[in-house]
Amino acid sequence: MSSKDNIFHQPMDNPAPFVFDEAVAQVFPDMIKRSVPGYSNVIAGTGLIAGDYVQPGTNCYDLGCSVGASTFAMLQYIKTDDFHLLAVDNSPHMVKLCQQNISGNNHAGNVEVTCADIQDVGISNASVVVLNFTLQFIPLEKRADLLTRIFQGMNEGGVLVLSEKLAFDSLAEQQRQTALHESFKRAQGYSDLEISQKRAALENVLIPESLATHLQRLTDIGFRDAQLWFRSINFASMMTWK
Ligand SMILES: C[S@@+](CC[C@H](N)C(=O)[O-])C[C@H]1O[C@@H](n2cnc3c(N)ncnc32)[C@H](O)[C@@H]1O
Repeated sequence: MSSKDNIFHQPMDNPAPFVFDEAVAQVFPDMIKRSVPGYSNVIAGTGLIAGDYVQPGTNCYDLGCSVGASTFAMLQYIKTDDFHLLAVDNSPHMVKLCQQNISGNNHAGNVEVTCADIQDVGISNASVVVLNFTLQFIPLEKRADLLTRIFQGMNEGGVLVLSEKLAFDSLAEQQRQTALHESFKRAQGYSDLEISQKRAALENVLIPESLATHLQRLTDIGFRDAQLWFRSINFASMMTWK
């Protein structure tokens, strides 16, 4: 059980750009559960998808693993003992907690938690790749390169799970979805001040794109059958195959 997220509770003159530092890592499970509608469903579904697609003798990847929620979900459902799971994050604070969390798991020996930029990590022999709420933090112009490297490192029939906050082309739709997301956060106990200060901190740090943009880019890279499998308000999870 993580501590309660109070990071944006006190008034700030000018919130600094959001970073995944030690304070955020300490409260991360609480923060993401109360900020991302449908988060628990996405994590559970990620585990189920991994269970269906991890092949013996292959690698799986949790890119932007934070404290290990998707890794844990995958470990719960993977049906073979012969796999290697690479969990990668570039925040040393997240990696430290992820390593601690995984150490007690029966399959800890199959998991390697690494502190690195996911843009530099070699992907090979992959049957499952998970990018849960992480591509949105990669510079826009670098996203296609990262997804292309993932595609190249995947085996035929392998699956990519991609979960993201969504943007909307229509201003009216953007406003409706943003309002509903803010209502969700209020219902989770966040104050208007916390919501507005976090929004300012994430400006230019988390850059969402539309569902159509995601699906088209995946298809352009060569992934097949790119599709939505889950959506809650302005957060979605897609899956697609090589
Ligand atoms: C919203 S969190 C991901 C949540 C996690 N996948 C989950 O479902 O619980 C985004 C994570 O991506 C990491 N991250 C952002 N940019 C990264 C990069 N270029 N390389 C590696 N990790 C990155 C952050 O440190 C953070 O832990």
